[in-house]
Amino acid sequence: MERRALEGRVVAITGAAGSLGPIVAHRLAPEGALLALCGRRLEPLESLAVELEGAEPAAVDLLDPDATSAWADDLATRHGRIDGLVHLVGGWRGGTPIEEAPREDWDLLHGLLVSTTQNATRAFARHLLASGRGRFVIVSSGQAQAPTHTNAAYAAAKAAAETWTLALADRFRGSGATANIVVVGAIVTPEMRAAEPERDFSTFTPAEEIAEAIAYLCSDAAASMNGQRLVLRGAA
Ligand SMILES: NC(=O)c1ccc[n+]([C@@H]2O[C@H](COP(=O)([O-])OP(=O)(O)OC[C@H]3O[C@@H](n4cnc5c(N)ncnc54)[C@H](OP(=O)(O)O)[C@@H]3O)[C@@H](O)[C@H]2O)c1
Repeated sequence: MERRALEGRVVAITGAAGSLGPIVAHRLAPEGALLALCGRRLEPLESLAVELEGAEPAAVDLLDPDATSAWADDLATRHGRIDGLVHLVGGWRGGTPIEEAPREDWDLLHGLLVSTTQNATRAFARHLLASGRGRFVIVSSGQAQAPTHTNAAYAAAKAAAETWTLALADRFRGSGATANIVVVGAIVTPEMRAAEPERDFSTFTPAEEIAEAIAYLCSDAAASMNGQRLVLRGAA
């Protein structure tokens, strides 16, 4: 029988019950990964976990550094290892001219996109280093590199998360662990296509393509890829 790419690996997915998370989880689980699924609300994570063999749901607020570290340490203690962290916490505010953008938008997006990334990496970095083949992946937006002014707060927060990830990649250099960024446009899921069959989603990035890229980055096939932006917005 062919060996599965993530056999025996413990991979945490944050924001797992969002729009992208379930598609990523369904792509990684059949590769043999034991998945730890995190969000703030337990119920949608439990529903997802029953679809995935051995998956473990956990309600953790990643804005709480102590709770985040406790979750990571508990996983490492019980399983003896953590091999991956796919950080999918998301959210959006924007749409107003830059000179009118409310300060609250920045505060919210800074928390969602920057603080959760910092807390998660602080909690997981030593475990990913200990794995010898640890993987950290975030999904970012083209806005980080080419912002539009009505998305200033979102773009700046994504740029900060990207830079933090590249710094983590520098920390990981030579350890066997990697940290990478998948850059996407607006994401389209199968549910969105089904809900609006007539709509043109050709400039969106399909969630299945993102899941494929994440599966690749988590595998040994991407062992040499560290500190890179994998851009999936060719059609945009
Ligand atoms: N959707 C897009 O078009 C798009 C475009 C570009 C980039 N991205 C990025 O792709 C990734 C996935 O996107 P998505 O649309 O699937 O995200 P999402 O649905 O907006 O968010 C994913 C999950 O994050 C969880 N979350 C929020 N705050 C949290 C916290 N403090 N602690 C723990 N969990 C928290 C939420 O669950 P709870 O409410 O239960 O906590 C939510 O279900 C994100 O990083 C996003 O920024 C998305």
